[in-house]
Amino acid sequence: MRVDVALVPAAGRGTRMRPATNAIPKALLTVVDRPSIQWVVEEAARAGVTEVVVVVDPDGGAIIERHFEESRFLPGLSGVKVRTVVQEEARGLGHAVLAGREAIGLRPFFVMLADDLIHPQEDLLGPLTRAADPDTSVVYVRRLPDEMMGAKGVVVPRSGPSDSVMEIGGAVEKPGAARAPSDYAIHGRYLFMPEVFDHLPGIAPGYGGEIQLTDAVDSLARAGRCRAYVADVELLDVGNPLGYLRANTVLGLADPAYREGYRSIVDDLLVE
Ligand code: UTP
Repeated sequence: MRVDVALVPAAGRGTRMRPATNAIPKALLTVVDRPSIQWVVEEAARAGVTEVVVVVDPDGGAIIERHFEESRFLPGLSGVKVRTVVQEEARGLGHAVLAGREAIGLRPFFVMLADDLIHPQEDLLGPLTRAADPDTSVVYVRRLPDEMMGAKGVVVPRSGPSDSVMEIGGAVEKPGAARAPSDYAIHGRYLFMPEVFDHLPGIAPGYGGEIQLTDAVDSLARAGRCRAYVADVELLDVGNPLGYLRANTVLGLADPAYREGYRSIVDDLLVE
């Protein structure tokens, strides 16, 4: 299978990053030396994606489009076209994905959460594509401790992982440790077959009153149309202040242009 389009939901309210997000979309906050969403688009480009559809709130579209218009000649972005679609109201991640329906059409597509950045030497999109063979949706899952079961979607395994791929029978959004069906938590990379757009319109508001993407994963999995790719790759969450600081440090230290200088700054601070 070839996947040439990615959907990046970036229309959330960003309340945990206020006041930084009072006037600026969260996806344009700088991580090291570029907006966080550019890290995500570069990751998509490395996997061979040629079109990225960013889901924005009604105010965010023009400025995000302008950024990619200006940056289209950067090496990591050549060959990728970035466009936006509007989610009129932040009614949840599932609702944001549904806003991309017309732009995606009948193609398989990645969903990449704009808050979750990957270390540039890691790859999840390639393994997700291989796990989809021949045409099943796949979610990326990582094992997490009990105390994180209230923060993520959690899948219901139907088999143990074999070659890092696990058949699943359902998924529950933020179940908490007591109700968690496993310790395999969904993280921000997905590969969907276009049939997800047949499931999403029927999803009622769920956890937190929002239309949850995890509930569409549950619906696909119950129909035998979704599996999980299991790995231990960290996604850096830039949607809260401490995660944002950590992402700047990890990605700053990983960048050859800044590594030495930044390491000496950190070392000096730590001995003080
Ligand atoms: P989050 O719930 O983590 O982001 O959604 P948020 O709503 O911006 O965060 P807070 O809680 O107010 O601080 C995960 C991802 O889904 C997108 C967000 O932009 C983020 O990338 N999202 C969420 C949407 O695009 N639309 C929504 O309605 C909800």
